Order: sequence, then C-alpha cells, then structure tokens
Amino acid sequence: MPRGHKMRAIVQDAYGSSSVLRLGDIDRPEIAANEVLVEVVAAGMDRGTWHSMAGKPYLMRIMGFGFRRPKNRVPGLDVSGTVVAVGPEVSRFKPGDEVFGMSRGAFAEYAAVREDKLAHKPANLSFEQAAVVPISAGTAIQGLRDSGHIEPGQKVLIIGASGGVGTYAVQLAKAFGAEVTGVSSTAKVELIRSIGADRVVDYTRDDYLDGSNQYDLILDIGGNNSLSRLRRVLTPKGTLVIVGGEEGGSVTGGFGRQISALLVSMFVSQRLTMLASKERFTDLEALRPFLEDNQVTPVIDRTYSLAEVPNAMRHLEAGLAKGKIAIAIQLRSTGVETPKTKVHT
Ligand SMILES: NC(=O)c1ccc[n+]([C@@H]2O[C@H](COP(=O)([O-])OP(=O)(O)OC[C@H]3O[C@@H](n4cnc5c(N)ncnc54)[C@H](OP(=O)(O)O)[C@@H]3O)[C@@H](O)[C@H]2O)c1
Repeated sequence: MPRGHKMRAIVQDAYGSSSVLRLGDIDRPEIAANEVLVEVVAAGMDRGTWHSMAGKPYLMRIMGFGFRRPKNRVPGLDVSGTVVAVGPEVSRFKPGDEVFGMSRGAFAEYAAVREDKLAHKPANLSFEQAAVVPISAGTAIQGLRDSGHIEPGQKVLIIGASGGVGTYAVQLAKAFGAEVTGVSSTAKVELIRSIGADRVVDYTRDDYLDGSNQYDLILDIGGNNSLSRLRRVLTPKGTLVIVGGEEGGSVTGGFGRQISALLVSMFVSQRLTMLASKERFTDLEALRPFLEDNQVTPVIDRTYSLAEVPNAMRHLEAGLAKGKIAIAIQLRSTGVETPKTKVHT
C-alpha cells in the first residue's frame, strides 16, 4: 500500500543512458482542475520515452523538454489504471473508473493525466494490454487514416512493421481493408505474419525498394530510406507518410528528410507527407471497436516490474522488442486480470 502522499517512481535528473533512471520515493503528483489522478496498474514503454531519457535528438531540448535536464523528472507516457481523484473541471470520469491514456510520468504508482488524453479501458483488455496502446496505436491510426487517407483494397507498405507503431499499423491497415506488406528483420518475420500481414519482407535479405512492387500508401516508421528510393515504389498518385526512424542523427533526428518530403511533394504527383502525432482521447475511442472486436490485439514482448525499468529500456534500445514492452506497477488485492496477451519470444 502507498505510504501517505509518497509513492515509488522511476526518477531521472539528467539526460543520458538507462543508468540515469533510478527507483525513488517521491511525492504523489498534484492534479490540475482538468486532470485525473490515476493509480497506475501498468505503463507502456515506447521510443518516445527513450528520446526523453536520452535528450536526443537535441532539437527536442529547445522544443520544451528541458535544455540541460528533463523538465519532467518521471518518465513514461502510456498509462492504465484506476481513477482515484478528479479535478473540478473533469466530467467524464469518477473515482473507481478503469482507464488508459497518455500521461507525463507513467513509471510511478500514481500519475496525473489530462482528461482529454484519457479514455475508459476496453473491458476485454488486461491493464498491461491497455497500457501499451495509447501512443503507438494512436500514432498508427493517425498515420494511416489522417495522413495516409487509407482506403479498402489499397496496397500498403509498412516499413518498421515489427515495432510499437508498426504492429498496430499492420493490424489496423488490414482492418481498413488494405493488402499489407510488412518489413522487418529476420527474427520478427513470423510475428508480422502472425498478426495478419499478407506479405513480409526481411530487410536484411531482400531489397523491398527495388521497384518490383508498387504501393498506394507507404508508412515509413524505420530505415531512413531516401525519398527517391521510397518514391520509386509509390504509385503515381500514391502517398508516403514519414512517421520516424532512429537513423537520422543526434541533432535533428531526421527532421530534414521530413521537411524535404513536404517540399518535394509540391512538385510531384505523389503525396509526400510527415506525421507529428497528437495525444488525444478521440483516437483511443476510434481504436475501441477494433480492440473490442479483437481486430487489433496489442503485441507485448515482455512485461517488467517498476524496478526493472532500466533493464526494459536496454531491451528496447537493443532493438530486441517484438511489438511493445509493458511495465507492471501495482498488483492490487483486487487483482490484475490475467493477461490475454500474445507473448512473442
Ligand atoms: N511522428 C510521430 O509523431 C511519431 C510517433 C511515435 C513514434 N515515432 C517514431 O517512429 C519510430 C518508430 O517508433 P516505434 O515506437 O515503433 O519504435 P520501435 O518499437 O523501436 O520499432 C522500430 C521499428 O523500426 C524497424 N527498423 C529498424 N531499423 C530498420 C531498418 N534499417 N530498416 C527497416 N526497418 C528498420 C524495426 O524493425 P526490426 O526491429 O525488425 O529491425 C522496428 O520495426 C521511432 O523513430 C519513433 O521516434 C514518431
């Protein structure tokens, strides 16, 4: 049980490697009028959390994350748990509600979450499953639906299909009626097949941009390919959505390639665009029917305890995770539901 108003949390006072993450005893967060206090049952780990830990690309430091050290001492973005208190402006939640959403400080026993970033947890998902949905699945649905304008019958290429965003993108693209090709490394080919991709290309063996296949939509989540190579496999009216990739350098993280895409797009018949995903509960509500119908199932590689967060971060950093990593924070007497996750080893 929590001690007074103290809580256990992962604390980070400097940017750096996973060694900057330590387990500490700190005050519970105060909530603002539009916020909800969540007793955290599980949290999700994603690449964004790694970027906040490392302070890279450096561009993010001048974009408000903290110049010399992180403004936010407790890492972790994705959260699921139970509401224990609500601010006076909150109308959609009450104490006892089971919820999931995007917070600042998920690697803790309690997290303050804005009402507009929170939704009720789908009843068929365990807390661990719900905790790995918000950022990655939210990015996937925004990339395919809002930026990609995906349509049934389209041929869709997902580069980075085996990661956090990619495993949702494959399943969502199939649910939207597309014919899906996923790209991954050798060890993750079977995973991508198992979540429904029509075709899988192992990028360590085959060149998926050699021009032998054309796509109506490319979701570019990894690999840092040049625009000219990507355009070669895009149909004349096709759409490229650049979501991310870790090979763009420490300063801008590949932002230059995204800006180039927007510029080139003005002069060619193809639509080349980028995604800057938004954190909002409306995407969680849009995902709900897919999750409840099991058209989209969170892929959890491993679940770690709160104290094991530095190990979990090293696993992510090494590129070993298949899908998502969950952090189990509270095991309460009411019991966390038995996870129904697919475990991929
Ligand atoms: N634009 C936005 O708003 C937004 C939002 C969320 C995330 N992102 C960014 O999107 C990227 C992916 O995020 P994530 O959470 O999905 O990360 P992740 O779980 O670490 O997945 C990374 C993916 O990239 C693939 N990959 C790595 N090297 C590759 C290569 N040389 N060629 C092809 N694929 C390669 C990996 O495949 P293998 O493991 O099989 O090698 C894996 O599928 C990150 O850069 C993240 O910062 C952007």
